Amino acid sequence: MVDITTELAGIKLKNPTILASGVLGETGSSLKKVFRAGAAALTTKSIGLEPRDGHTNPTIVELEFGILNAMGLPNPGIEMYLDELREVVKDGFPVIGSIFGKDPNEFSKLAGIMADNGVSAIELNLSCPHALGYGAELGAIPEMVKTITEQVKNTMTKPVFVKLTPNTSDIVALGNAAVKGGCDGLVAINTVKGMALSPELGKPILSNKIGGYSGPAIKPIGLRCVYELGTAGLGVPIIGVGGISSGKDIAEYLMAGATAVQIGTAVYYHGVDIFTAVITELKEFMTMHEFKNIQELIGLAI
Ligand code: FUM
Repeated sequence: MVDITTELAGIKLKNPTILASGVLGETGSSLKKVFRAGAAALTTKSIGLEPRDGHTNPTIVELEFGILNAMGLPNPGIEMYLDELREVVKDGFPVIGSIFGKDPNEFSKLAGIMADNGVSAIELNLSCPHALGYGAELGAIPEMVKTITEQVKNTMTKPVFVKLTPNTSDIVALGNAAVKGGCDGLVAINTVKGMALSPELGKPILSNKIGGYSGPAIKPIGLRCVYELGTAGLGVPIIGVGGISSGKDIAEYLMAGATAVQIGTAVYYHGVDIFTAVITELKEFMTMHEFKNIQELIGLAI
């Protein structure tokens, strides 16, 4: 019997898998399906203060080795979202509330509302690559990462995770800034900036032209970022995300320094049962290689 339990900033997880933000829409009932499939926690869609339509269609295009999206942070706004949130937290599973804002005040206000409504932790989206004035536009500036994290931490006691952008030459500087701001964990990575073009139409496919690429193609980038953050020894747990769709992928992320992982695009491809599959595969991998518990894998490659 292998032990695949892990812990993130005091949150006990029955296994290292978490639903990534933005997958499975916004309703509480659809999000809860991941718990039935075996996920240990879930991250909500990124929510802002006000309702937002996002970009006009096309907002998503499936490519050969992944998905390119420029949703533009569509969401109903925090007040309208609360009913869905309550529906998903009421069963007692760990829920991570993902939020985005245009400045530190918006972030801390949203974090407070999420915390008051039962989330186990907050994830700061400082990495969406396609929304003017939000996400990576703030999150690529270390001072801004520190200030936003600090302000959120000053207003609440729940753990705060910062989701970092890979669209930078120095992800460790961003991670370090978040740690200086007092974060309790780093999430690496969000999508990689990219473009898809139709040669027939002679123009970009997405209405926003530029989007964020996710799926199998970005796994080496995610692993590299987690490894760089892990090697830097910043003193907080890392949640690895990017292209994970098998138990071996999880083992690789853990060995690169992650304490847990998020799965997103694989849910789009395979449905929520991907959680059942990857957990079984991880256990098989650990048994075959005589690992007794997750701790033996974390940081092994560093
Ligand atoms: O538009 C979106 O909801 C995506 C956000 C992100 O990539 O962080």
